[in-house]
Amino acid sequence: MKKLILAATILAASLPAAAQFQKAEDAIKYRQSAMTLMGAHFGRLAGMAQGRIAFDAKAAADNATVLSALVFLPFGAYGAGTDKGAPTRVKPEIWSNAAGFKTRSDEMQAAVAKLDAAARSGNLDALKAAVGPVGDSCKGCHDDFRNEKYSN
Ligand code: HEC
Repeated sequence: MKKLILAATILAASLPAAAQFQKAEDAIKYRQSAMTLMGAHFGRLAGMAQGRIAFDAKAAADNATVLSALVFLPFGAYGAGTDKGAPTRVKPEIWSNAAGFKTRSDEMQAAVAKLDAAARSGNLDALKAAVGPVGDSCKGCHDDFRNEKYSN
C-alpha cells in the first residue's frame, strides 16, 4: 500500500501541469481539493496531539500515511496561467518567487515526513512534537503566497 501510494505521488509530482489539466479551472480545483484533503487529515492528527480527539495509534498512522501522499499533489497544479479561470487565492509571488514557493513546499513535505515517522512510532509525545512544525510550515506558505480572499 505504502509503495503504491509512493509510486502514485512520484508520478503525480513529476507530471507537468500542462499535460495533466486541460483548463486552468481544472488545475485550480485540483490543487484546492488536495489542500482541502490535507487540511482534513492534518486536522485529525493535530486534534489528537491537542487532545481534542482521542488518541488512536492506528488512526494516527493511517492519517499520516494519507497526508504523506497528499502533500505532493497540489504542486503540479500551479502551472503558468493558472492564476485565473476559477476563484483562487494565489498571490503572483508564486510565479515571481518560484524558488521561495518551492522552498516552502519542500519544508512542509519534510515536516510531514517527520510527522509520518512519529505517527508510525505509536507514541503520543512524538506525535505532539511533530505536529507543530507541520502547522508552522502550512501557515508560513499561506502567509507568503495565499491571499485572504478569493478572486472572482
Ligand atoms: C508551498 C505553499 C503551501 C503550503 C506548504 C501549504 N499550502 Fe495550503 N494553500 C496554498 C495556496 C497557494 C493556496 C490557495 C490555492 C488556490 O486558491 O488556488 C492554499 C490553500 C489551502 C486551503 C484552502 C483550499 C480551498 O479550497 O480554497 C487549505 C485548506 C490549505 N491550503 C491547507 C493546507 C495545509 C493543511 C497545509 C499544511 C499541511 C498547507 N495548506 C500547506 C499554499 C500552500
